[in-house]
Amino acid sequence: MPDVKYVLNSGSIITEPAEAVKMVKICCIGAGYVGGPTMAVIALKCPDVEVAVVDISVPRINAWNSDQLPIYEPGLDDVVKQCRGKNLFFSTDVEKHVREADIVFVSVNTPTKTRGLGAGKAADLTYWESAARMIADVSVSDKIVVEKSTVPVKTAEAIEKILTHNSKGIKFQILSNPEFLAEGTAIKDLFNPDRVLIGGRETPEGFKAVQTLKDVYAHWVPEGQIITTNLWSAELSKLAANAFLAQRISSVNAMSALCEATGADVTQVSYAVGTDSRIGPKFLNSSVGFGGSCFQKDILNLVYICECNGLPEVAEYWKQVIKINDYQKSRFVNRVVSSMFNSVSNKKIAVLGFAFKKDTGDTRETPAIDVCKGLLEDKAMLSIYDPQVTEDQIQRDLSMNKFDWDHPLHLQPMSPTTVKQVSVTWDAYEATKDAHGICIMTEWDEFKNLDFQKIFDHMQKPAFVFDGRNIMNLQKLREIGFIVYSIGKPLDDWLKDMPAVA
Ligand code: NAD
Ligand code: UGA
Repeated sequence: MPDVKYVLNSGSIITEPAEAVKMVKICCIGAGYVGGPTMAVIALKCPDVEVAVVDISVPRINAWNSDQLPIYEPGLDDVVKQCRGKNLFFSTDVEKHVREADIVFVSVNTPTKTRGLGAGKAADLTYWESAARMIADVSVSDKIVVEKSTVPVKTAEAIEKILTHNSKGIKFQILSNPEFLAEGTAIKDLFNPDRVLIGGRETPEGFKAVQTLKDVYAHWVPEGQIITTNLWSAELSKLAANAFLAQRISSVNAMSALCEATGADVTQVSYAVGTDSRIGPKFLNSSVGFGGSCFQKDILNLVYICECNGLPEVAEYWKQVIKINDYQKSRFVNRVVSSMFNSVSNKKIAVLGFAFKKDTGDTRETPAIDVCKGLLEDKAMLSIYDPQVTEDQIQRDLSMNKFDWDHPLHLQPMSPTTVKQVSVTWDAYEATKDAHGICIMTEWDEFKNLDFQKIFDHMQKPAFVFDGRNIMNLQKLREIGFIVYSIGKPLDDWLKDMPAVA
């Protein structure tokens, strides 16, 4: 076997005999939306690597070990089935697996702080810190510790301090390896990532650690797509990437309001804009607003970092992305209420879709929560249907305080009060029966194929459709007799003189 060479930035080369480079054992702390799928794909692509995914949540680990996985993600079942029990293990024995591992990924929650310094903006690193302290406590051999969670820039420095102050002479190398998968397409994204980003210390030990992680990904990711940087660039690139993506959505959503005011069509505008190869066509779909566990949290975190670094103008710039997102959601609620004679009190409104996007059951920060709360505020009766979200989850989401959703499940409020004006159905036809209006909150494919004539026949009149995802055939709905509102589209006469903002 040839020797293994590491090339440093300075140009000098370190050589190690191949037999010294042993195969790695991986442990991932946090069996969530990132930890579970990411590790399952590493196990599938690296049959010679043993991967253990550990979590403090017993129900979550039990679910990973059952036929009913804890998250819905197309293709995930298949990957897990192929490796579970062979080189992929799910366990609550966190300490044992951390102790035995060469590489420890940390993919725990990094929610927005709700109290104290930086409340409402800064990342709460409690879970990360406790994971780091535990790693230091139980380790008996040198380890590479990988930040998989999205963290503030410079977190690695803090983690390094925790590890080295408690290390009993054991050496730790910290790497930043942020995850870019999107939910609903996680397996596709992991199989074929645009890039894998690895940041490390620019020292011989740092380069060696980067190389070890690179070797894992090199099992299936072409070398040219594995980018290596310094630690701080990797940490910041993740926050920057999410901020840029969210910014595109807020930009097109801002345009959608102007389209409604002028008669332009946002789909035509975003197509025309996106065909400029410098801009590109992706991520320009206007919607009721972006949701998901990360965009808002990561931008708030970015804003806080800017403020802490004495950059208020930069902070203000990014804050605007969130302001437009909130504006878009309240604009939608105002459209619904003002169209329906300025009151939805005691009217049945069917809400189709609750997940923050299609092909996931995840409801974290879904725009449906704010829209439903806005309608409930006006005393609407809601009938909600989502193919992947349970009644329990919807009730929890509508009664939970802001940001509580991003803590581990067992630390969230267990028996929240039920919202009485909300019923949840397992069928779109049932949800829409006798309704005055329909709000489309998630772009599930099945909604496009519903029999809208049948739905219309069973609704109160005038019957309204408010399409928050621009997935409906508006012409067809109008022919049936619906009054239709679709984000950023030319308005029906009915809506033209109604106020769009409160
Ligand atoms: P998640 O809530 O689904 O999973 C986190 C898991 O960590 C939970 O199961 C929790 O019980 C566990 N945990 C917390 N503290 C622990 C500890 N001390 N020991 C063991 N287990 C512990 O969250 P997620 O969506 O997987 O996100 C994790 C991180 O990845 C976040 O920083 C997030 O910003 C980032 N991220 C998420 C996505 C995504 O699509 N969800 C994508 C990229 C990055
Ligand atoms: C996003 C990023 O796309 C991932 O790269 C990143 O890893 C992840 O956040 C993260 O850090 O958590 P995700 O939130 O899973 O992934 O899903 P997206 O496809 O980005 O959608 C986010 C929200 O924006 C959804 O509510 C979606 O409906 C909305 N969206 C997306 C639009 O309104 N318009 C678009 O054109 C695209």
